[in-house]
Amino acid sequence: MGIGNTSQQWGWLSKTLHWLTAVLIFVQIPLGFYAESLKLSPLKMDIFVWHKSLGILVFLLLILRLLWRIKGTIPKTVGASLIQQYLAQAAHCLLYGLMVLLPISGWITSSAANIPIKLFWLIPLPALVGPDNALKSLAAEVHEISVFVLLAVLILHIGAALHHHLLLRDNTLKRMWF
Ligand code: HEM
Ligand code: HEM
Repeated sequence: MGIGNTSQQWGWLSKTLHWLTAVLIFVQIPLGFYAESLKLSPLKMDIFVWHKSLGILVFLLLILRLLWRIKGTIPKTVGASLIQQYLAQAAHCLLYGLMVLLPISGWITSSAANIPIKLFWLIPLPALVGPDNALKSLAAEVHEISVFVLLAVLILHIGAALHHHLLLRDNTLKRMWF
């Protein structure tokens, strides 16, 4: 298996970035809800450092992924009809958009709340905006709505992958796997 994609097959870099991001997202969602549910405490602050650091990591991996995607080829979408191919591509676009919106809205929430971000307790990130209560509420709202849109799109995305694998029995899932 080569590093690059072909018109039929995903290369190992795209596969690794897809599955690494998937694992991070599946950790991020419960971690975010858990962090929010805690009362103000050192544990809450630690959980938020993890949540923010892993979320920024998703964003960094996404930049790499998009650069790699525009640089090389991508496998042709498999679909019973043109409409299904467009729907799959629309879902993928939405997922990419959410992987930008979630980290940026989270970052703006923290900055507007005047809470500095330190990646894994090591690397300080600059504030994106100054302290601003109204903006903080707005960004937190955008973050939360994005989570629910993400959950809905992921159900479709995973459902479609299983549909291809179990019912259509084509290689859509296999070619994304190692
Ligand atoms: C159990 C979980 C998942 C499964 C089974 C799965 C399966 C797949 C498969 C089979 C493809 C390839 C589609 C094709 O070749 O046409 C794909 C692509 C993609 N997946 Fe997932 N996925 C999962 C989780 C996720 C998550 C959590 C995200 C991000 C939030 C995600 C984002 C994407 C994106 C953006 C693409 C399009 C790749 C591109 O065209 O550049 N996936 N996924
Ligand atoms: C991959 C991306 C991310 C996902 C899937 C995610 C998911 C979540 C979830 C499920 C919650 C709890 C529900 C709610 O929104 O109130 C949450 C809350 C929160 N997240 Fe994220 N998050 C991500 C990235 C980030 C990043 C990068 C930051 C900051 C740098 C961040 C900061 C926050 C903050 C401050 C809250 C509490 C919001 C509030 O006060 O209402 N998140 N996140």
